[in-house]
Amino acid sequence: PKTSPQPGAQRETWSSQAGFLLAAIGSAIGLGNIWRFPGVAYQNGGGAFLIPYIVALLAAGVSFLLLDYALGHRYRGAAPTVFRRISRRAEILGWFKVGVSFVILTYYAVIVAWAARYALFSLNFAWGDNTADFFVKDFLGGGNPASANELSFKVVWGVFLPLALLWVVVIAILALGVQKGLERANKIFIPLLTVLFGAVVIRAVTLPGAAEGLNAFFTPEWGSLTDGKVWIAAFSQIFYSLSIAFGIMVTYASYLPKRADLGGSGFVAAFANSSFELLAGIGVFAALGFMANTQGVPVAELQGITGVSLSFISFPTIISMMPGGHLFGFLFFTSLVLAGLTSLMSLLQVVSAGFQDKFGWSGRFSALVVGIPSAVISTMLFATNSGLNTLDVVDKYINEVGVVLCAISTAVLVTVLHPRLGHLRRHLNVLSTIKIGKWWDLMVGFVVPAALAGMFAQTVIDLIK
Ligand code: PHE
Repeated sequence: PKTSPQPGAQRETWSSQAGFLLAAIGSAIGLGNIWRFPGVAYQNGGGAFLIPYIVALLAAGVSFLLLDYALGHRYRGAAPTVFRRISRRAEILGWFKVGVSFVILTYYAVIVAWAARYALFSLNFAWGDNTADFFVKDFLGGGNPASANELSFKVVWGVFLPLALLWVVVIAILALGVQKGLERANKIFIPLLTVLFGAVVIRAVTLPGAAEGLNAFFTPEWGSLTDGKVWIAAFSQIFYSLSIAFGIMVTYASYLPKRADLGGSGFVAAFANSSFELLAGIGVFAALGFMANTQGVPVAELQGITGVSLSFISFPTIISMMPGGHLFGFLFFTSLVLAGLTSLMSLLQVVSAGFQDKFGWSGRFSALVVGIPSAVISTMLFATNSGLNTLDVVDKYINEVGVVLCAISTAVLVTVLHPRLGHLRRHLNVLSTIKIGKWWDLMVGFVVPAALAGMFAQTVIDLIK
């Protein structure tokens, strides 16, 4: 039973528009919101960063989100199918997006698995006093080769096992299908995440020193507004955070019932994602303020304020220092797991759906055939200490190069090579509660690609310099 119904048969659908919306929000809200946004905002002008951020959200974020929805819903397929239906030669662009999603998922999964292990570590502060040493040496098995045997046992137990379990869960959810798997999982995980993370933020802002952290986070550095890098940071944060231009929203929108309010959904998803992101910024910086306060250093001198070191080195320190830390830690890491898991599902679905469409496989078969090798590759590349540096580099290139290339090439395709914007806008507007005007063509066809091209040029120049 490995082939799906023949072409022309019904495509799987979400049970309702709300189901789609939750899944779209689940994909958008991820590690990027919690561990990437706060530090990026802080390093790029603090409160002043909100200006490029909001401009990027409204100009690029919303318009490209709508483009993805329109493409997926109009051409009803995974990314390669959608682009093939526009032009046979464009199929390759779809596969490029599948490839980028695949690269992201290999490192994304590992972080989610680490977070799961750390949720349990919170219960007994297994990380001890030196959280950095613990993470790199004890947990990931780096450093001291003399005790390699003992360490590798720990690594197998602590890192490989949770990762394997995570993969079983993700593959199982995908195998259950769009409604029974993805939709149901999101309906459980996203409300749960909102409650748990809400509790984390409330606790964080009531810690002593929280105000200092928030001050540091929100104090605007207006000079940053003239720095191109800051604008690049805002645009890539928006693209990554909303999961746009990677084929994800194209794939998810292809499961919408024929009658759907695409415009309204886009605005809701974008608003929900950015609200969560701001909330995360507040929670994270309140907690960092507490750490600075307790250690008697200014917030500006803190190390480890983004990414891996924020979550696995700074947060454990904060958790150990605070009253009620066990519970706080458990909730914080569980939130990371829930946020990451729902994004990971969407990433794997892009790859799986690509193959499903191409070879006529069933969803279940495809989830297994695509999921198992992904699990193996992600474990080999990133699960241990040696993958740590690669992880940062890959994350950086995905954000600065991959995203931009995906977005620009899509825009050029539907604007210049095979003009479809008017058609897609009418498609969006059929059932939208929000009418999309001609401004949209201008944004997608000109303003955003031009801005991205300028940014890309600057990235390249910086790389060469
Ligand atoms: N949007 C997710 C986040 O913010 C990450 C992601 C990127 C998920 C691209 C899917 C695709 O973490």
